[in-house]
Amino acid sequence: MSGADARNRRLVDDLTTAGVLPDRWRPAFLAMPRHRFVPDIIWDDADGGGFTARRRRDDPAIWLETVYRDGPIVTQVDDGATPDTEPGRLVTSSISKPSIVAGMLGHLQVEEGMRILEIGTGTGWNAALMAARLGEGNVITVEVDAVLAEQARKALAEAGASPSVVTGDGADGYAPGAPYDRVIATASVREVPYSWVVQTRPGGAVLAPWGTAFDNGALVRLVVDEHGVAYGRFVDNTVAFMWLRAHRTPRFLPPADLAGAAEATTTLHPDAVAWDDLNASFAVGARLPDVSRRFVDADDGGDFTFWAFAGPSWARVDVTDGASAYLVRQYGPRALWSEIEAAYRWWEQLGRPDTGRFGLGVSRDHQYVYLDSHDNPVPTRRTRAAGR
Ligand SMILES: C[S@@+](CC[C@H](N)C(=O)[O-])C[C@H]1O[C@@H](n2cnc3c(N)ncnc32)[C@H](O)[C@@H]1O
Repeated sequence: MSGADARNRRLVDDLTTAGVLPDRWRPAFLAMPRHRFVPDIIWDDADGGGFTARRRRDDPAIWLETVYRDGPIVTQVDDGATPDTEPGRLVTSSISKPSIVAGMLGHLQVEEGMRILEIGTGTGWNAALMAARLGEGNVITVEVDAVLAEQARKALAEAGASPSVVTGDGADGYAPGAPYDRVIATASVREVPYSWVVQTRPGGAVLAPWGTAFDNGALVRLVVDEHGVAYGRFVDNTVAFMWLRAHRTPRFLPPADLAGAAEATTTLHPDAVAWDDLNASFAVGARLPDVSRRFVDADDGGDFTFWAFAGPSWARVDVTDGASAYLVRQYGPRALWSEIEAAYRWWEQLGRPDTGRFGLGVSRDHQYVYLDSHDNPVPTRRTRAAGR
């Protein structure tokens, strides 16, 4: 056994001991070791100043150690546009964290012979694991980036796995292979593309990372009924995938000029809504799906500014370490901090429900988040698009 294979066995044992790798997936993880899929150039943001390329040839031992850590590894930045001699800004492909991969495959609940569509091939590792378990003809994977798709085809062939890799926009699913027993996305969506529901057989399931502009970490498992409607609960809120390309959220540059903003104070610490408790930030995002937020640290000490924005509206809360009330400034047609605070209080008054009590309903024309039962939708508020 090579040193890399020995490390893979240790990783598989660790995932098994931690209870995240179901026994039935163990043979696939042993047959398709992660190092066969991680490219020679990977990126990290060790100093927080942008992503730097790390070449395998420069330090093979560190490369291998990174491969067998239980963490995600960035494999592409800026849609491949940044040369590996320059710092990258946006993560656009990665190989997911092994414990998340194992957990998602558990949630997929597959049985032998099922047909699977994966959206987001990336390195091909997840597709290889599924093909090892379900058989080569049963897995199709779609990747929007032609270069990545070609790299995955090569890695899959070298590893002895050959799921079909389709280059295309996974938002359309892949109709020629439908119907599927399962659709699994490994990129996050703000709305589940209805094509995924249509291409899943009745009784089949769609598993997708799901997020809002406010919070991107949930995983939803939908079951499709015979009328083409899908319902299901959120089964995790720690997955944090990159967005499907068309679902990326706009980047917000804080305004330099604070003139015209209304001032108030709040006793609600922004950490309570957006940092301390993933259930809170999920719930606030469910109520306010188009509100983005950002924490900006002051130069030193524990002071920071919390920003929220949606359309032309923005809010900022200045937090001084140790204070018990904070200055709020709000600008534009929506009073965003007031909305955030009201959404948080709503979640508190409900008894601080876990993300797992929420679910998603998806039909051809409509999707909505519900609490406990699909006849109990969560009221939402969004900025209307201009002209509507
Ligand atoms: C987290 S990575 C996937 C990891 C992958 N499953 C693996 O095992 O390495 C997300 C991938 O989704 C791809 N992606 C983003 N938008 C897409 C789209 N519209 N259709 C297909 N793939 C997409 C990205 O290019 C990226 O490679």
